[in-house]
Amino acid sequence: MSRRVALVTGAARGIGAATVLRLAREGYAVLAVDRAADDPDLPYPMGGADELAAVVKAAREHSAEVEAHVADVRDPDAVAGAVAEGENRWGGLDVAIAAAGVIAGGVPLWEVPPEQEQAVLEVNLNGVLHLARAAVPALLRRPRPRSGRFLALASAAATRGLPMLAAYCAAKAGVAGLIRALGVELGESGVTANAVSPGSTDTPILAESARLYDLPEAAAFAAQQPVRRLLEPAEVASVLAFLAGPGSSAMTGAVVPVDGGLAL
Ligand SMILES: NC(=O)c1ccc[n+]([C@@H]2O[C@H](COP(=O)([O-])OP(=O)(O)OC[C@H]3O[C@@H](n4cnc5c(N)ncnc54)[C@H](O)[C@@H]3O)[C@@H](O)[C@H]2O)c1
Repeated sequence: MSRRVALVTGAARGIGAATVLRLAREGYAVLAVDRAADDPDLPYPMGGADELAAVVKAAREHSAEVEAHVADVRDPDAVAGAVAEGENRWGGLDVAIAAAGVIAGGVPLWEVPPEQEQAVLEVNLNGVLHLARAAVPALLRRPRPRSGRFLALASAAATRGLPMLAAYCAAKAGVAGLIRALGVELGESGVTANAVSPGSTDTPILAESARLYDLPEAAAFAAQQPVRRLLEPAEVASVLAFLAGPGSSAMTGAVVPVDGGLAL
């Protein structure tokens, strides 16, 4: 198989970073995309430029073809620019993974500051739409027979009613609906669309969720999951890597739980 080219958003840390590393280990060329700066609408830190650079450095130990690209998924032009960068640099695109995500809430929906609600919807839902609009045509520009993959991070929140996280639940349910429809639209093209729904995974977004729920630490979420532990980002990345590969060709429009049984 010739080298596959992937673009991953939310790449500076957490699940996105683990996915960059995993795909690099599998020999992909990877464009690692992140806003790499705090979001003024949100009260907790985003991944930084230093973290993005560290992910790229670690990934380059496995694949020379890994590059950082700073783009805000709230900005459709910036997302289109990232897709163009990956396609131009490596001659095409095979995989686009929307992992950028943020959380806010901690109070009832009607009390959430509007700018926080807007940020949650714009990053978690519009960000995925922006990536689909830019990346799917690039995936379809690969000649047949192709094995393009559009992947998104949904959440257990896509199907559960999580109090104090209503906008996050709405955005993630939106991602699940988008993936189902996109999978059908892509039909026989050789490009598929799938999502994973992680359970509580040990990353900064979970630490922020713990703060929003007044929990002492993120580890408290482990009790909700039948496996009785938090998941590691690499465990989610390994499922994303399977979905990114040609071996997932029978799957499209699927929203796959990777949640230690949380949804059961
Ligand atoms: N960790 C969990 O328990 C969990 C559970 C379910 C779903 N998820 C989802 O998995 C995805 C990855 O989350 P994570 O756990 O790695 O979180 P994280 O906070 O560790 O990482 C998120 C990354 O996205 C980046 N980002 C945020 N806004 C951005 C923007 N506008 N443009 C570009 N990049 C931006 C951040 O800088 C950060 O590097 C998210 O979509 C999240 O909702 C996580």
